[in-house]
Amino acid sequence: MKKSQLEVVILAAGLGTRMKSTTIKILHRAAGRPIIEYVLDLAAAVSDRPPIMIVGHQQDAVRAVCGDRARYAVQEEQLGTGHAVLQSALLLEAASMTGKTVLVLSGDVPLTRAETLFRLIEQHEKEGNALTLLSMRLDNPAMYGRIVRDADGSVERIVEARDASAEQKAIREVNAGIYLFDATLLFDPLRNLSTDNAQGEYYLTDLISVFRKSGRRVGAVVAEDPVEAIGVNSRAELATVEGEIQRRVVDRLMNEGVTFRNPSTVVIDSTVTIGPDSVIYPFVTIEGTTIIGRGCIVEPGCHLQNVRVGDDVHLKTGTVAEGAVIADQATVGPYAHLRPGTKLGRHVKIGNFVETKKAVFGDRSKASHLSYVGDAEIGADVNIGAGTITCNYDGVNKNKTVLEDGVFIGSDTQLVAPVRVGRGAYVGAGSTITKDVPPDALALSRTPQKTVEGWATRRREQLKKK
Ligand code: UD1
Ligand code: CA
Repeated sequence: MKKSQLEVVILAAGLGTRMKSTTIKILHRAAGRPIIEYVLDLAAAVSDRPPIMIVGHQQDAVRAVCGDRARYAVQEEQLGTGHAVLQSALLLEAASMTGKTVLVLSGDVPLTRAETLFRLIEQHEKEGNALTLLSMRLDNPAMYGRIVRDADGSVERIVEARDASAEQKAIREVNAGIYLFDATLLFDPLRNLSTDNAQGEYYLTDLISVFRKSGRRVGAVVAEDPVEAIGVNSRAELATVEGEIQRRVVDRLMNEGVTFRNPSTVVIDSTVTIGPDSVIYPFVTIEGTTIIGRGCIVEPGCHLQNVRVGDDVHLKTGTVAEGAVIADQATVGPYAHLRPGTKLGRHVKIGNFVETKKAVFGDRSKASHLSYVGDAEIGADVNIGAGTITCNYDGVNKNKTVLEDGVFIGSDTQLVAPVRVGRGAYVGAGSTITKDVPPDALALSRTPQKTVEGWATRRREQLKKK
C-alpha cells in the first residue's frame, strides 16, 4: 500500500481516570517524551498524511504538544471509542475514500513497532478484509477486550472485560486497540452503533459483528511481542512502558557503539545521542536534548540534562550538569555542578566540589577544587586555586568577573564582581579582590603575617604551672 492511501486516526480524547492525575494520560512522559509523541512517530512511519487526532479532554494542551504534526477533530463528550472514530468522518468523508484504508491507533498505546503495522497492512490487503485488527496473547488479560474466535478460527467478536462471562474472561487473546478499516465501509455502521453494554458506550469493537453479519471478512494479526500493545491506563503501565523504551534506547545506543557497564541501571531519554566508544557507568541519568560525543567516560551517579558534551570528555562520579556545553577532552568532577550557561573549552579541568553558572572557560583553564564560579568570563590557561569564590551577587544585580588569559588566582580568594583581572596577572592566596588588576601585576589583600618566636613554648609552660 502506498503511504498516501492510508489515513490515520488517533484516539486521544479520554482523560484516563485510572492514572489519578490532573494531566491527560497521553501527555504523561515516558523516557523524556509525552507518550502521544511515540504514537505520532508511528503514524508518520506508515502515512504521508498528518493523522487525525480525536481530542476532547485538555485539548488545548494536546494541540500545544502535537502542533501541526496532526489534524484535529473534537469529541465534545467521550461516549466511547466508536463515537470517537465517528468524529473523523467530517475530515475523512470530504475526500474520496474509495481505495483508502483507515488505520485507527490509540493515543495511549505507544510501544507498537512500525514493522508490526506493516504486517497488519499486508494481511489486510492480502485477505481483502473490511477490518483487520492487532491482537496479543497475555498471561493476565486484565481489562483488555477478549477476542472471541468462531469454530474455524476467525474473529467473531470482541467482548470487553466488563461485559465478559467467566468463560470469556479466561480467553488470553486480547484486542490491542489498533485497527485497519476499509474506509468506504467504516462510517455508516458507526452511526448505527448501540450503547447496550456495561459501560453504556459506543464500542468501536462492535463493528466486528456488523461486518460479519453483512458477510465481510474480519482478520487479526497477533503481535509477536505483547509489549507492543500495552496501553497506558495506570501508573504501573506507564512504568512498564518507560522500562521498555529504556531498553530500546540502550539497545539502539549499544548498536551504535556505546558501552554500558550495567545497562539495566541507567535512565536515558529517547531524545539523547551518544557517540561510539563512549562508556556509561551504572546509575547514570541522561535527559532532554543531551548530546555526548565519542570516546567519553560517564562515571556512576552523573546526572546530565540538556548538556552538549564533545569527544573524549571524562565526567567523573557524581557530576550534575544542566544546560552546559563541554568541549573535547575536558574533565569534570567528581561531584561538580555545572549549571546553565556554563561553557568549558578544550582540556578544561573542573575538579571536585566546584559549582559553575553562566561561566565561560577558555581552553586548558582549571578550577580543580572547592570553588564557585558564576557570571564569569575566564580566558585560556587560567588557574583558579582551591576555594575561590566569585562574589557575583550584590543583593540586587548579578555582576561579572573577567579573568583574562594566563591569570593565576591563589587559593581562598574572593573576587568581588564586577571585577577584571588582566592578562597574566597573579592574585595572592587569601585575597579579597574588589578592584580591577592590571595585566602582569600581583594583587594581594591579606594582612601581613606576624610571627612571635617561642610563643607556643611559653604558653605551654604557663598552662602547666596552673
Ligand atoms: C479499548 C478497547 C479494548 C482494548 C483496549 C486496548 C473498546 C470498546 N475497547 O479499551 O477492547 O483491549 O482499548 O488498549 O474500544 N477514547 C476517546 N474517546 C472516547 C473513549 C476513548 O478518544 O469516547 C480514547 C482514549 O482516550 C484512549 C483510547 O480511545 O486513548 C482507548 O480508550 P480506553 O478508554 O482506554 O479504552 P480501553 O478501556 O482501554
Ligand atoms: Ca486503554
